[in-house]
Amino acid sequence: MGRGIAHVVALSGYDVAINDLSKDAYDAAIAAIDKNLTRQVSKGKISEDDRATALGRISFAETYEGLSDSDLVIEAATEDETVKRKIFVALCPFLKPDAILATNTSSISITRLAATTDRPERFIGMHFMNPVPVMELVEMIRGIATDDATFVRAKELVGSLGKTMAVSEDFPAFMVNRILLPMINEAVYTLYEGVGSVDAIDTAMRLGANHPMGPLQLADFIGLDTCLSIMQVLYEGLADSKYRPCPLLVKYVEAGWLGRKTNRGFYDYR
Ligand code: CAA
Repeated sequence: MGRGIAHVVALSGYDVAINDLSKDAYDAAIAAIDKNLTRQVSKGKISEDDRATALGRISFAETYEGLSDSDLVIEAATEDETVKRKIFVALCPFLKPDAILATNTSSISITRLAATTDRPERFIGMHFMNPVPVMELVEMIRGIATDDATFVRAKELVGSLGKTMAVSEDFPAFMVNRILLPMINEAVYTLYEGVGSVDAIDTAMRLGANHPMGPLQLADFIGLDTCLSIMQVLYEGLADSKYRPCPLLVKYVEAGWLGRKTNRGFYDYR
């Protein structure tokens, strides 16, 4: 997600500094961004000049100090509250006082995350969709303390990226994943109960409901660990058994079968 966000933000004319776990991770991100920009050039969506200029706007921030000039920082780490909290605690002392801190979380309470920072009023949820260069939506979520100026600045940024926003209240998994993930979880139950095979379930939803990807293929694309985290947030946050993660989803994650990123999920990509 971070790669996709950096891609779109740089292509829209902003300078981007990427902080990642290592220089290797950054190099892999740049290679992926270059590949996706090149794909847009070959489709005639952008020029070769646009590609080179966008890449030239992206740099590596080895430490959080490298983000100290940023007007906006978008956190896009793993969907794990402990990881995100640790990042905010370490990052905040380096940020400009008026910098906005956004999170790309797909499910976790914005109000709770904001409370771990030194700037709850300048903290906001900006939830991009995967693949970011293709998907038009950014879901915007204000925490209880987010001020109007932060919301307006974030809204202007979304517009300048050529994206459309939908505003959600700060409820578990917001709107997109409140609706999408139970459908994916139900598809896993459909497989678990032997109602249909992986191919049959995905074909049914692609051709029967006109979805661009079947739900199991989409789960692999999102990452099964992310799908499970979101279901857990829904299950715990809304205290309703209808959100119980399917045991088969739990088992796949325990096996390390996380979808495309590990080359194995409901499909085998090896
Ligand atoms: N970067 C740039 N362009 C990309 C791209 C990328 N990473 N991936 C695909 N594209 C472009 C292609 O170049 C192509 O462009 P044209 O229309 O100009 O030809 C277009 O997107 C379609 O791609 P493909 O022809 O390669 O393949 P496709 O038709 O099968 O589409 C897809 C691929 C866009 C991913 C499509 O399958 C799709 O929309 N899938 C569903 C995606 C989805 O539901 N995303 C939301 C996930 S949920 C989420 O993100 C929230 C969360 O928190 C979990």
